[in-house]
Amino acid sequence: MMALKQLRMKDGIELEVYDEGSGAALLFLHGFPLHKGMWEPQFTEFKSTRRVVAPDLRGFGGSRNSSAVGPGRMPEPVTMAQFADDAAELLDKLGIDKAVVIGFSMGGYIAFELMKRHRERVAGLVLADTRAGADTEEGRAGRRKMAAAAMERGPVVAVEAMLTKLLSPKTPDERPELAAAVERMMLDASGAGIAAAALGMAGRSDMTELLPDIQVPALVIVGEDDAITPPETARSMAEAIPDAAYAVIAGGGHLANMERPAEFNRVLSDWLREISK
Ligand code: MLT
Repeated sequence: MMALKQLRMKDGIELEVYDEGSGAALLFLHGFPLHKGMWEPQFTEFKSTRRVVAPDLRGFGGSRNSSAVGPGRMPEPVTMAQFADDAAELLDKLGIDKAVVIGFSMGGYIAFELMKRHRERVAGLVLADTRAGADTEEGRAGRRKMAAAAMERGPVVAVEAMLTKLLSPKTPDERPELAAAVERMMLDASGAGIAAAALGMAGRSDMTELLPDIQVPALVIVGEDDAITPPETARSMAEAIPDAAYAVIAGGGHLANMERPAEFNRVLSDWLREISK
């Protein structure tokens, strides 16, 4: 099977999607402002035993042109519901009925919307370095500022504001090539894509009330040094979900799946084995 596909969505935009392997499907949803490349260590691990699907969400990576707007104009927010509808549509197009959905950070916000809007498509839920709560007023103001700056100066504003926060404080010294790869991923987004998703995240709903109603197996994973969605936040989210496992990745920051891939993959693969018994 060809690993990279361009899928034309019903509103005319094109999404680039990685699709490789066969068997039970895993749908990986990336974070902000990254792209599907953040899941490379998981593609390598799981493509021989599962069908691995990972889109570049609209405005990011190979789908960066989908959020283009005219000069001087601010894009409409891309809501988490829109991203979730895109994910359900791409499952339709790929002939996948159900998938285990693995959402990282913003991808987790989208996974919650998938649970709300398309719950019949979700076989299991992995919430990696994410949170159920909405933004504070201060958080929303910061998003609006980033959106305006991204329209003016492009994706470099996200690098300036976020690169160090995405990684454990140890990573830039221990693995400078990883920090450089994350920076390149951010620069692959369009300014409009960043602005649209930042405004979408600012307006997202609080999903705390959805947690007790999640009726599929769930796994909450978080990096020990995650400064954006710290372990305490992840733990209380796991405690509110009826059937959730919880794992902390030692030495991992927000991007624990890239920084500590062996440990992250082990936790994920043990859990997948457990839920398929
Ligand atoms: C992400 O990694 O997707 C972002 O940190 C999410 C956010 O800014 O809330």
